[in-house]
Amino acid sequence: MKLLDVKNVKKTYTTRFGGNKVQALRNVSFSVEEGEYVAIMGESGSGKTTLLNILASLDKPTGGDVMLNGKSIVGIREKEIAEFRRNNLGFVFQDFNLLDTFSIQDNILLPLVLSKVPYEEMNKRLLPLAKQLGIEAILKKYPYEVSGGQKQRAAAARALITNPKLVLADEPTGALDSRSADQLLDMFSEINEEGQTILMVTHSARAASHAGRVLFIKDGEVYNQIYKGNMDSEELMHQINNTLTVLMSGGEERE
Ligand SMILES: Nc1ncnc2c1ncn2[C@@H]1O[C@H](COP(=O)(O)OP(=O)(O)O)[C@@H](O)[C@H]1O
Ligand SMILES: [Mg+2]
Repeated sequence: MKLLDVKNVKKTYTTRFGGNKVQALRNVSFSVEEGEYVAIMGESGSGKTTLLNILASLDKPTGGDVMLNGKSIVGIREKEIAEFRRNNLGFVFQDFNLLDTFSIQDNILLPLVLSKVPYEEMNKRLLPLAKQLGIEAILKKYPYEVSGGQKQRAAAARALITNPKLVLADEPTGALDSRSADQLLDMFSEINEEGQTILMVTHSARAASHAGRVLFIKDGEVYNQIYKGNMDSEELMHQINNTLTVLMSGGEERE
């Protein structure tokens, strides 16, 4: 079943003063089946964050439509979106978005508080998750007291604690050393095997090689995609690197 159907999505930003326009997404179409693990790659400024924000309905497209579970999220009321987000969506932001007046623990628990999950239930989920991500020792600290990598892992824990059906992650390993990145990627693979759908933006070919499919975005459009199929991660990584080389060199070779 299609969990996500992105149809001809366009996004033009108009800056507040000069009326300068930036076309961040020109025409993006793709769909994601329930249970898929999809990586999205593309140069800085190619529209990846814009796309994720639209998929999470944190921003509206200028044109096109996005169907989630067969339902358009473009014309939907804010109240309904908020409920959908709370119940089905986990978002790992590129800049973490942790609240500085909350401890790391309270930041992670926040989505559960909002969905009124009982306290005991919360703690049951919190510790295993924190351990798996290697942040159990910093749970009582505040965001400004921990490193960028620890903040990023806390942001990932916050996105995963509700067991969301759909995980949207914007460069979730960008601030991590290779060991922490591997821990996080192992977790993503595990939850994906258990049925959660993942859409992960990444700069890292190694991170992307964990996915079942890699989409490449260039100039606001889907430029190419690779399915893992029967390849192992190493072969997929090789293919990803080849595609990136063509993509960055401005080549016109298309699917
Ligand atoms: N809020 C905004 N207002 C104006 N321009 C924006 C805004 N957000 C992003 N852009 C522009 O849109 C383009 C795509 O940005 P972004 O989606 O952040 O790319 P990526 O995540 O791939 O680096 C860039 O040219 C960027 O400068
Ligand atoms: Mg970005």
